[in-house]
Amino acid sequence: MKFPYYRARRLRKNEVIRSMVRETHLSVNDFIYPLFLIEGTNIKNHIESMPGVFQYSLDKIKDEIEEIKELSIPAVILFGISAKKDNVGSEACNPEGIIQKGIQVIKNIHPDLYVITDICLCEYTDHGHCGVVEKGEIDNDATLELLYKEALSHVKAGADMVAPSDMMDGRVAAIRKALDEENFSHIPIMSYAAKFASAFYGPFREAVKCTPQFGDRRSHQMDPANKREAMREVLLDVEENADIIMIKPALAYLDIIHMVREQISLPVAAYNVSGEFSMIKAAAEKGWLDYERVMIETLISIKRAGADLILTYFAKDAARILAKME
Ligand code: PBG
Repeated sequence: MKFPYYRARRLRKNEVIRSMVRETHLSVNDFIYPLFLIEGTNIKNHIESMPGVFQYSLDKIKDEIEEIKELSIPAVILFGISAKKDNVGSEACNPEGIIQKGIQVIKNIHPDLYVITDICLCEYTDHGHCGVVEKGEIDNDATLELLYKEALSHVKAGADMVAPSDMMDGRVAAIRKALDEENFSHIPIMSYAAKFASAFYGPFREAVKCTPQFGDRRSHQMDPANKREAMREVLLDVEENADIIMIKPALAYLDIIHMVREQISLPVAAYNVSGEFSMIKAAAEKGWLDYERVMIETLISIKRAGADLILTYFAKDAARILAKME
């Protein structure tokens, strides 16, 4: 295997041979598309910091769902913008809440679309924190009960899968137990297992208005500096019977995705978060980057690192490009 006998360029000569030896393939089946649902009627709000992404009221969601169907995107993950907030996020469990109603509306339009819901309280608490706050701190164990009740109410409304993103200790086991007790043992849990306290969530927090009113999320989300701890978090969720393990964000954490893929056999998902999307959109709008190529290269890198599934705001644009390439 030495020059001049070995020449690596032989297998790069043209697209035919390049595509024959390509190691990583993106497919539309890898994508989960995030959707923002807002209470009210006749609303289609453009999210300034996330070009091309909108908040929809339920009466305006039809075209979006049909487009997703047309593009063969298999799954969506729902986020709610709730009008009613209180200090324990009661609205999260309301059977008439935005997510619960949203699931039903979406299933009516497209029964085969796989609907995943985000389980967290920050979209429903007036202080914007992910749990019950006692004396300025999040009470982990008191929050668990609210989280499994939220998960149950989503599943009762027809969700196919729940995805806890709160980072409370023990929440996967608590949700699994509650689902099993209520005859939902067939519903999988995708756990945001290693979720880092990241500044890349900035645009999302604008989109769902869930910025904490005081403090930050560093008492429960992980320190970006910690890799071994990420593995511990993942193994705990595997033990608690999570079905899919998610790493979030994706791009600054490709080493974590790679490590997790090597060490567990469950499917691994990566969340290509809002800030990662906005950076590329902004540079493309300025004409500084080729949008389509950078997007596909980014998604490939996440897949190559080891993700089986990618939650991404690029899903629709990427699906269009993949369809063209077929
Ligand atoms: C919490 C949640 C967040 C995101 C998904 N679920 C925000 C946070 O933890 O602060 C971020 C997603 C993104 O940035 O695209 N419910």
